[in-house]
Amino acid sequence: MKPKVLVTREVFDETLEFLARACEVESNQRDIPLSPGQLAQRLADKQGVVCSLTDRIDENLLHDCPQLKVASNIAVGYNNIDLAACTARGVMATNTPGVLDDSTADLAFTLMLATARRLTEAEAYIRAGQWQGWHLKQLLGVDVHHATLGIIGMGRIGQVIAKRALGFEMRVIYHNRARLASDIERRLKATYVSKDELLAQADFVVLQVPYAPQTHHLIGGAELKKMKPSAILINSTRGGVVDDAALIRALKNGTIRAAGLDVFEDEPKFNPGFLELKNVVLVPHIGSSTEATRRAMAMTAAKNAVAALTGGTPPNLLNPEAKSKA
Ligand code: GLV
Repeated sequence: MKPKVLVTREVFDETLEFLARACEVESNQRDIPLSPGQLAQRLADKQGVVCSLTDRIDENLLHDCPQLKVASNIAVGYNNIDLAACTARGVMATNTPGVLDDSTADLAFTLMLATARRLTEAEAYIRAGQWQGWHLKQLLGVDVHHATLGIIGMGRIGQVIAKRALGFEMRVIYHNRARLASDIERRLKATYVSKDELLAQADFVVLQVPYAPQTHHLIGGAELKKMKPSAILINSTRGGVVDDAALIRALKNGTIRAAGLDVFEDEPKFNPGFLELKNVVLVPHIGSSTEATRRAMAMTAAKNAVAALTGGTPPNLLNPEAKSKA
């Protein structure tokens, strides 16, 4: 008998076709997010779940789904999964690293350029029919080229952002839990600094750390005050890494110049204070959202799930200890 898999949100046809070769597949192709109760109900007889960052895979759910062997996240971040609870119950957890690095780095750069050049403000102005003609001081922005880029979180995506910055002839400084090997620093022309030095020096602060209790409100009121009044903050990693209420105050008071945000606390119900501000560019968690990348992410997740359910080791297994328990 084939193992049973639930795909919690809409995926591509080829993802379903791949899964169906090895599994009996039930998919939520109508894409209506499942409540925790609905998820538990639909997972009760399943051995696998291909889930997204909108699904919480926690002890409550696992308790109600004793047959579950694998939770395969279609995302690189996995703060929606309680890894310890999965490991304790012998449930393998997987993510989709690598395939989204370039697209996510592109979006971080998009936000840098859009905030620096006031793109959404300029577009709203033209759409509102306010453009009367060219003038010298119209919608003055700041330069990205030759500016200092401070990257907090220099993992795979952070390093790709640094690589992009070389093309803009930026000075790159970074802060990370561990300093990079010197050959990588040299290749990226990136200089390791303390978090405070980075906040004090950077024209653009880009956050690329995963969300975890240790990174909750990594940037709050105190950190924003350490930034230059001309600085721009980019959060394209996870809501909760920034204290959004403090950021709104800082943007209103001119503590920093602007912010570009792809992620929010309590998304999709983000703080409405952002909507009142002109100096913020807002996009709805689309960091990896290109057709090619989202297809690759879904297929990576499908491969992880099938490997786990057919006795193999998923390529992106987050908790190898769970496999020995399974
Ligand atoms: C998206 O936010 C991801 O973690 O892949």
